[in-house]
Amino acid sequence: DLEITLDAKAYDAQHIIAAAVQLRISDVPVAFPTETVYGLGADATRSEAVKGIYSAKGRPSDNPLIVHFSSLGQLRKVLRPDYNESDTNDPIPAIYHPLIRRFWPGPLTIILPNPSDSPLAPEVTAGLSTFGARIPRHPLALALISLSGRPIAAPSANASTKPSPTAAEHVAHDLDEKIDMIIDGGPCDVGVESTVVDGLSSPPVVLRPGGVGIEELRKCEGWKDVRVGYEDAAEKSGTPRAPGMKYRHYSPKARVVLFEAGSRLPGGEEIVGHCQQNNRIGLIRTKTWDFNANDEMTPIRRAAAQAVAHTNGHHETSSGFAGMLQTLHKQHERLLTTSHKISTSAGDVAVLDIALGRNVADIARGVFAALRELDLAGVDAILVEGIDESDNSVAAAVMNRLRKAAEVHVGG
Ligand code: TXA
Ligand code: MG
Repeated sequence: DLEITLDAKAYDAQHIIAAAVQLRISDVPVAFPTETVYGLGADATRSEAVKGIYSAKGRPSDNPLIVHFSSLGQLRKVLRPDYNESDTNDPIPAIYHPLIRRFWPGPLTIILPNPSDSPLAPEVTAGLSTFGARIPRHPLALALISLSGRPIAAPSANASTKPSPTAAEHVAHDLDEKIDMIIDGGPCDVGVESTVVDGLSSPPVVLRPGGVGIEELRKCEGWKDVRVGYEDAAEKSGTPRAPGMKYRHYSPKARVVLFEAGSRLPGGEEIVGHCQQNNRIGLIRTKTWDFNANDEMTPIRRAAAQAVAHTNGHHETSSGFAGMLQTLHKQHERLLTTSHKISTSAGDVAVLDIALGRNVADIARGVFAALRELDLAGVDAILVEGIDESDNSVAAAVMNRLRKAAEVHVGG
């Protein structure tokens, strides 16, 4: 187990302490950073507090929440309320032990049986007999959970259907009227949500791809034959389902057009087909331009690349937890939107162009922020260059989120 020591006299500690108190006594949820995305947290043992999450997000209450812990001891007490440290029989099922050793604290959620005498509020599990549990690795999340002394239920801190928030500004944009506290830990390190796994069924199943790649899971004892239990096939084909049945998720206002790995982004005259009233198009690139390629660079891009090279080696924290946070990159400073005009038969089209780089971790870290940034710029459509996911890495999570966000799919 991890141990967090907090200097209670430090300026920033006052905010964490106030947030922990709010979690204990208030029914208004608190937003906090995790290494994956920002979470909207509430005391998982109090129904009224958990209901506050659903109402702030506008989330349907049949979608269960993940419960966050700061230590294994705290989790064991939920699984077996009379658990004490001298118990030799671990209430955490053995199938999960190799995963916990390898990936916790970190971007992995495991499904566990919810005991009949569970302290968790029924609203957390949305009527299921199981619950999802995770120990995050962000130091501010761990400090907050540990200070509150409660298991913390937390979905992503976005308005329901919007892209998940990977910076405090995203949370403020969606939820400012609904909540009164956001702990700002800077941009998130991973950028996509945790991988959700069910080891209670045999063979075990991945319910949601995320920050831990499936290939990484397969290396663990008992997980070699893990099945993929999420549906990407329907999303991939883009076949329209019954009207109103499309499960909107991760979606900005602008329509998202996903170019599956292997098909290329349109340019020139081809781009007109994606325009609507504003004649503004957003591009999210993952291949066709990267920071280090000097070929075909316009002067503005060269300047941008130099700015990136400069911020790349630069670490900064937006909180006083300098030592703990200094390894977290400020990825969003690297989201460079360059803009140019294309003259077409339908008039000039303004193109806003974001290159996430070619590295999968960078793409995952920046993808939600890029969708949000282009949406704020009022583009008609966002054309996204898909990535190859055949290595079963975090790329599978990126493509899964993009497929859910996209109204149109090209190729694949
Ligand atoms: O990275 C993350 O997991 C973030 C941060 C805040 O920790 N949280 C997050 O929560 O993404 P949310 O509520 O947006 O997604 C929870 C996912 C959903 O896909 C939900 O269906 C699944 O976990 N889930 C929760 N409890 C479950 C259960 N008992 N059985 C199956 N799936 C469950
Ligand atoms: Mg979510």
